[in-house]
Amino acid sequence: MHRAQAVAGFQRAFGYAPTLVAQAPGRVNLIGEHTDYNDGFVMPVAIEFATWSAIAPRPDRRLLVFAGNKSEKLEIHLDSPGTPLQKHWGDYVRGVAVELEKDGFHLRGADLWFAGNVPDGAGVSSSAALEMSVGTALLANSGIPIDRIRLAKAGQRAEHHYAGTKCGIMDQFISANGKAGHALMLDCRSLQFQLLPIPDTLSLVICDTGVKHQLAGGEYNIRRAQCEEGVETLKHVLPEIRALRDVTSAAFETHAHRLPDVVRRRCRHVILENDRVAQFAEALKHHDLPALGKLMAASHNSLRDDYEVSCIELDTMVACARRAPGVVGARMTGGGFGGCTVNLVHTDKAAEFQASVASAYHTATGHHARLFLSAAAPGAGVVV
Ligand code: GLA
Repeated sequence: MHRAQAVAGFQRAFGYAPTLVAQAPGRVNLIGEHTDYNDGFVMPVAIEFATWSAIAPRPDRRLLVFAGNKSEKLEIHLDSPGTPLQKHWGDYVRGVAVELEKDGFHLRGADLWFAGNVPDGAGVSSSAALEMSVGTALLANSGIPIDRIRLAKAGQRAEHHYAGTKCGIMDQFISANGKAGHALMLDCRSLQFQLLPIPDTLSLVICDTGVKHQLAGGEYNIRRAQCEEGVETLKHVLPEIRALRDVTSAAFETHAHRLPDVVRRRCRHVILENDRVAQFAEALKHHDLPALGKLMAASHNSLRDDYEVSCIELDTMVACARRAPGVVGARMTGGGFGGCTVNLVHTDKAAEFQASVASAYHTATGHHARLFLSAAAPGAGVVV
């Protein structure tokens, strides 16, 4: 999608030209899964699929919103924005506007058009892309400089209060702060981050299993609660801990027997996954490709066996990738229960890799996988 398409879309919806255009990307996560809400570490990458917003100010405090992909309209009054949890795309727009205002940003009314090409429901953060795109447009339209951290936090609160998912900060943060050619290693407690270059010789291939199991939302919140239960129990012997992020693998070994089996396995995943993120960063810095592959495999296996958020289709897709030409590493990415895998692949073999995975996955499951090739893309911003 291009700026010109966003301008044309706005023009068709409102009959005049927008004053500015913003975009924000979806993401994949290379490693560090289900660690963000445990104050841990993640390593996401912004992708070349984005939501675009075109906007112009209105003299009143109304937002007239046009969803280009659906050809649907909605009116939101900033002084009485309406109730959350309507299970509608408007929740994300309303949520981000309300949360920005609660944070002290006074927004102008606007005519707002948005559309994008982030695959929906595939676990690559189409909702974060929408929140960050609309949030960037609303702030810029109000003449307010973009504070990417406050914007990401407003998007996360919009998910909690308006969409009903108790997500961590990863998706909004990478959508707001991604950098072309780089992965972003984020400390989800301090929100300090490091940008790590991805070697030019490697490509990201995203493989969509084409399935999304219904239990995803409920199970996500259950995993969160199990991690919190683990922290409460471990606090009896490790009183200084606030989150699983504070538990070293050595301390965990000593005290794990205090936890019920399921909680113990959930905690083990999170604690070892945090270590893997640090090791992955080192491997990336030293171009140690075998180490990258091993860490991605260990992450996937842990999500499958200890955290139990994988599914047969994700496991099959990863198995197909591990046998395909050019693969460096493969694992499920995002919340799980369907959605996508992320694959690091030698660029000169990317086409062969995709053909091999698509055919093997179809033979094994009968499903047609959608495969996407992406470079690491820039984060949200106004597009001139
Ligand atoms: C979803 C959430 C993120 C994160 C991942 C799992 O994408 O939105 O905050 O918890 O799942 O790593």
